[in-house]
Amino acid sequence: PQKHDYSIACMPADGIGPEVIAAGVEVLKALSEASGDFKLSFQDYDWSSETYKKLGKYIPDGGLEDLRRHDAILFGAVGAPDVPDHISLWGLRLAICQPLQQFANVRPTKILQGTESPLRKAKTGDLDWVIVRENSEGEYAGQGGRSHQGQPWEVATEVSIFTRHGVERLIRFAYEIAQSRAKKHITVVTKSNAQRNGMVMWDEVAAIVAKEFPDVKTDKMLVDAMTCRMVLQPESLDTIVATNLHADILSDLAAALAGSIGIAPTSNLDPTRKNPSMFEPIHGSAFDITGKGVANPVGTFWTASEMMRWLGEEQAADRLMECVEKVCGRGVLTRDLGGTAGTKEVTDAVVAEIRSSY
Ligand code: NAI
Ligand code: MG
Repeated sequence: PQKHDYSIACMPADGIGPEVIAAGVEVLKALSEASGDFKLSFQDYDWSSETYKKLGKYIPDGGLEDLRRHDAILFGAVGAPDVPDHISLWGLRLAICQPLQQFANVRPTKILQGTESPLRKAKTGDLDWVIVRENSEGEYAGQGGRSHQGQPWEVATEVSIFTRHGVERLIRFAYEIAQSRAKKHITVVTKSNAQRNGMVMWDEVAAIVAKEFPDVKTDKMLVDAMTCRMVLQPESLDTIVATNLHADILSDLAAALAGSIGIAPTSNLDPTRKNPSMFEPIHGSAFDITGKGVANPVGTFWTASEMMRWLGEEQAADRLMECVEKVCGRGVLTRDLGGTAGTKEVTDAVVAEIRSSY
């Protein structure tokens, strides 16, 4: 029997993280109460750039083991103006994703009702994608080094690591997602003309995995041409699979094409379910708007919905997104979407919508 009682680790971290995560928790509590279908208990983790500045590390000793006790992790954003970005990213986010084997980063994108794409011809329904990003190796494996630092003859290497095991499990998972969607269509993105080793292996592995999914239609794109296709023929795409770096870039483009970086969610999944998965809005800590009460909480609401879906609460996940879209459709929008509402107004409106929908 499925359990309906979940323990969530809440990690707001930096900048607008605490603002949007508080909004997300409020909405999740409303959803749990109104539906009566499931229970959530939240445990707060204050790991952030503040902890790093005080203690010299983001994650306390034994911290990762402690995280493993939870069913899921709800994460805000990490990054502070006075900490180099590579320190904060590697110190917290990647330090969780990598040991917890969250090897698939899944980023759905669509044009929500009431919002506008910067693409003149694209309307709600025309752009509805899921980008599946390799999240454990590739260009962000951390291999490389620097010699003769600061000298004119300095050498730096940044080595991409592609393991057949890592590529195959990710591509297979992407095909499973493609198969679960109405269009059953996947675009495998590489750069196998210029990057003639790892990317050629990606293409080969994709061709083998494709045979396991005869009902999924496959097409292949080079990453540079893919940017054009995303802009010019958004309706021709559905599920997209790419490397860590390529999909990182494509998914920011996707978020912008859908209207704002403030609405997009991302899931860091361990598809084997041996470890808890981590869910976060795709935006960063947004220092420029921190503390002003204007951060768009929709990215976190959609993130919360993806988390509930992963936990098996499909109905609650769908209901939450319906409520968010209704609120957006009524024009209750933050400034990044051209509206005037603050974080609180949008949150209150979504909570009210949830309550009245049951
Ligand atoms: P950012 O996503 O924080 O901000 C980019 C722009 O989008 C800013 O103008 C910001 O105000 C706006 N924006 C972002 N989220 C918004 C929201 N919810 N509502 C309304 N507007 C929003 O990216 P940026 O400025 O490149 O990075 C800031 C810091 O965040 C850096 O330290 C970076 O390393 C970190 N970062 C962390 C991420 C994570 O934790 N996964 C992801 C991206 C960046
Ligand atoms: Mg990014």
